[in-house]
Amino acid sequence: MVELTLPRTSRIKVGKTWNKPQARRGWQEFRIYRWNPDDGQNPRMDTYWVERATCGPMVLDALIKIKNEIDPTLTFRRSCREGICGSCSMNIDGTNTLACLKGIDDVKGAVAIYPLPHQRVVKDLVPDLTNFYAQLQSIEPWLKATTATPPHERKQNVEERGKLDGLYECILCACCSTSCPSYWWNDERYLGPAVLLQAYRWLSDSRDEAAGERLDNLEDPFRLYRCHTILNCAKACPKGLNPAKAIAEIKKMMVERRV
Ligand code: SF4
Ligand code: SF4
Ligand code: FES
Repeated sequence: MVELTLPRTSRIKVGKTWNKPQARRGWQEFRIYRWNPDDGQNPRMDTYWVERATCGPMVLDALIKIKNEIDPTLTFRRSCREGICGSCSMNIDGTNTLACLKGIDDVKGAVAIYPLPHQRVVKDLVPDLTNFYAQLQSIEPWLKATTATPPHERKQNVEERGKLDGLYECILCACCSTSCPSYWWNDERYLGPAVLLQAYRWLSDSRDEAAGERLDNLEDPFRLYRCHTILNCAKACPKGLNPAKAIAEIKKMMVERRV
């Protein structure tokens, strides 16, 4: 029989409350998912209170403040703090996004923070992206050319370069793939929106000479064709990109090469 409730060991419990102020005015509440694989305990939601006057404006500022001043065991990824590295992706207030681009004031009430959904958790807010990176590697995201390398560079004109707009900006944060229902249920076999957007980025590059080989690699009922145009991916992308459109373009290339 199908089990519709979570096993006892994975139910999220109410955790500790840290730094609760006497009066709430000027303070912000954060409810953060905690799980430590080493302590044998269930996951829990800890509550942290942060004084707004002493904290920067973004959710990542609050996480860094909590880690530095309240609870050093809180674990999350981050690097650039300006939406470029893709490390700080997590689920904030019900949406996958980058903590460094999400304003605290954009959330009404307590800020709920979970790791990216439907991925194994390494610890707290850190998802295991091993499968995601292996899938990226499988599409060979680098320039492939068989013609002799020119003495200086492989040039593009303005129009050719323009075809990479809306693709090259992807920072591989995985917000789109982990918001895609098709990817949730088939992440071993479906490549997902982020990796397919990367595949299209190389198919669109005028300097690349491996389009046929790349399309052969994608021609599969699962790797490409599990996209059902639900568009969660485009809504989730913190860089405003549209992976669903890239996937549709790859499907179009598949049809065009058959006729
Ligand atoms: S459009 Fe395709 S890739 Fe995007 S969320 Fe929907 S099924 Fe996933
Ligand atoms: S397409 Fe957007 S959401 Fe998806 S990995 Fe790239 S930057 Fe992140
Ligand atoms: S810390 Fe680099 S994208 Fe947020």
